[in-house]
Amino acid sequence: MPGARDRGAAPARWLGTGLLGLFLLPVSLSLEVSVGKATTIYAVNGTEILLPCTFSSCFGFQDLYFWWSYNSSDTFRTIIDGTVKNEKSDPKVKSKDDDRITLEGSTKEKMNNISILLRNLEFSDTGKYTCHVRNPKEKNIHHQATITLQVVDKLEEVDNTVTLIILGVVGGVIGLLICILLLKKFIAFVIKKTQEKKKECLMSSSGNDNTENGLPGSKAEEKAPTKV
Ligand SMILES: *[C@@H]1O[C@H](CO)[C@@H](O)[C@H](O)[C@H]1NC(C)=O
Ligand SMILES: *[C@@H]1O[C@H](CO)[C@@H](O)[C@H](O)[C@H]1NC(C)=O
Ligand SMILES: *[C@@H]1O[C@H](CO)[C@@H](O)[C@H](O)[C@H]1NC(C)=O
Repeated sequence: MPGARDRGAAPARWLGTGLLGLFLLPVSLSLEVSVGKATTIYAVNGTEILLPCTFSSCFGFQDLYFWWSYNSSDTFRTIIDGTVKNEKSDPKVKSKDDDRITLEGSTKEKMNNISILLRNLEFSDTGKYTCHVRNPKEKNIHHQATITLQVVDKLEEVDNTVTLIILGVVGGVIGLLICILLLKKFIAFVIKKTQEKKKECLMSSSGNDNTENGLPGSKAEEKAPTKV
């Protein structure tokens, strides 16, 4: 039995590597899945939360298959799945494992939105939610994006404070850098001015010397404007 399993695993691994190559190659052109900018969403127990997911494909799609999976420390399961016939139709849910989940998005008019709404949040809903899309029109290419949901009993003010502190520190550091830069510029400016003044002094004194001495250098300078 273990031998058979090993023999089965090797081709699977090759297939995996091959598929990975397929994913990486057309990455910018083909199917893309996004859950937006936030990687972690906080929500209060008893309320509802929208888990966002959109996809895009410049090749278009046909009989696209999508599903959401849930992964926490002790479970991994598909919570909802369905299909989208084409760009002109809305997604059709095939199955879902909880009545609290509904598909909210629309795939008409290039919305390509397969977000889900989770109602009556429980603390046990905390975990990673991954939105998967497989497009038969693109050799069944499969893409996914993950968002983490954290169910809390109240949205902490502390988080804001931490953010503010971080922003403050970052702002302070940037401010300090700007100050240092400005100071450097100012010092450089002062040094330059001082040097210019010294030069000016030297030049004017040498200039005076030149005119007084009637050196060719000063004559050429005087001629230039008359030509124009
Ligand atoms: C959320 O959980 C807390 C702590 O268990 C509980 O006191 C509160 O009633 C819950 N809120 C809702 C809206 O269910
Ligand atoms: C679930 O998440 C854990 C890390 O939190 C990861 O190690 C594990 O591979 C994931 N399971 C699946 C099936 O993606
Ligand atoms: C997706 O659909 C939901 C529900 O209609 C909406 O709240 C959300 O803003 C949509 N997301 C995008 C990116 O359009």
